[in-house]
Amino acid sequence: MSEKIILAYSGGLDTSVAIKWIQENYGYEVVTLTADLGNVSDLPAIKQKAIDVGAIAAHVADVRSEFVTDFVFPALRANAMYQGVYPLATALGRPLIARLMVEAARKEGASAVAHGCTGKGNDQVRLDVSVGALAPDLKVIAPAREWSMTRLEEIDYARKHNIEVPNTADKPYSTDDNVWGRSIEAGVLEDPSVEPPDDVYEWTSDLADCPEDPLYLNIRFEKGNPVAINDERMDSLALVEFLSNIAGTHGIGRIDHIEDRLVGIKSREIYEAPAAVVLVTAHKALENMVLSRAQGRFSEIVSTEYSNLVYDGLWFSHLRDNLQAYIDSTQRYVNGSVKIKMHKGNFIVVGREADTPLYNTELATYDTGDSFDQSSAPGFIDLWGLPVRTQARSQNDNL
Ligand code: ARG
Repeated sequence: MSEKIILAYSGGLDTSVAIKWIQENYGYEVVTLTADLGNVSDLPAIKQKAIDVGAIAAHVADVRSEFVTDFVFPALRANAMYQGVYPLATALGRPLIARLMVEAARKEGASAVAHGCTGKGNDQVRLDVSVGALAPDLKVIAPAREWSMTRLEEIDYARKHNIEVPNTADKPYSTDDNVWGRSIEAGVLEDPSVEPPDDVYEWTSDLADCPEDPLYLNIRFEKGNPVAINDERMDSLALVEFLSNIAGTHGIGRIDHIEDRLVGIKSREIYEAPAAVVLVTAHKALENMVLSRAQGRFSEIVSTEYSNLVYDGLWFSHLRDNLQAYIDSTQRYVNGSVKIKMHKGNFIVVGREADTPLYNTELATYDTGDSFDQSSAPGFIDLWGLPVRTQARSQNDNL
């Protein structure tokens, strides 16, 4: 009996061709794995397709809740945004898929795993490195990185093997999505000077179609996790889906970015991430109420490092674990609510209330009841400025 391989299977052309290609070129028995992170409409149909194409077994799993709880919310607590703008939806999904592949490999007694990534992107790195972190003994194969078929040759290969070829004429972009966001690449978007055409967007309304009136939302966080909207408690997945819908309707969450890939390429990326942009902004607004200035500054450094390492495929690394421990220890008092006003593609924080605020009206006020002792200020400033004056006297540079 030949050895088994677990193939991460989307049901699309590349991974369908990969089932046959792996059988022909490596001789493995192929078991597919399809995970729904909010991107799959019909799991049973994909399972059937895998079997029809030639898989000996097909695993499917709805992991949307697990994705939000174990990957998205930890990243939200860290305010993770790659290069300050990309909420990392795809990057957060890959380690979960890797974990599921490893679990399936153990269950099936497989000696290898495979995925459909090409050799040009970040996702191959994320999957290969994550599998290596969890199961260094497993071999990883990426057929689309090896087969060097052109698109037409691939279609030809599919036809010869009775694999259904989807009509790609009306799909001019490469997309990837999950509950945290949607990514759109390629086609006309490859010219960075060109405004994205309307058909790029699926989750967010064009300005002309946004509701006329502004909408206020109150988002409650506990220990840094969003738990309720307008006083209605929701589970993690329901909350993200609800917010994604409502913010998307108001045209919020469009991102147009020239991104630095790990493999050295700059690429033009369009994202739709309505829930992510609102939640990260709201979360930061609440942190400003409860973290000291020093904690806030250090958290920003950690957030940047964290975002980079998640982007770079190092979710399953000791460093991510260490940084997460710091972040999570800062979230103890991140309890409270943030009021958001959404209107025509824009949103702003218009209010916040923390359970244990560091904001203190008695200290902040310019009205009566001021407890701040202004007579301490000159002494404080005298010492604060002492090194600057000392240097000015001795090293008389023209700054
Ligand atoms: N640039 C994003 C990342 O590296 C998204 C990649 C997948 N997107 C796609 N449209 N195929 O995380």
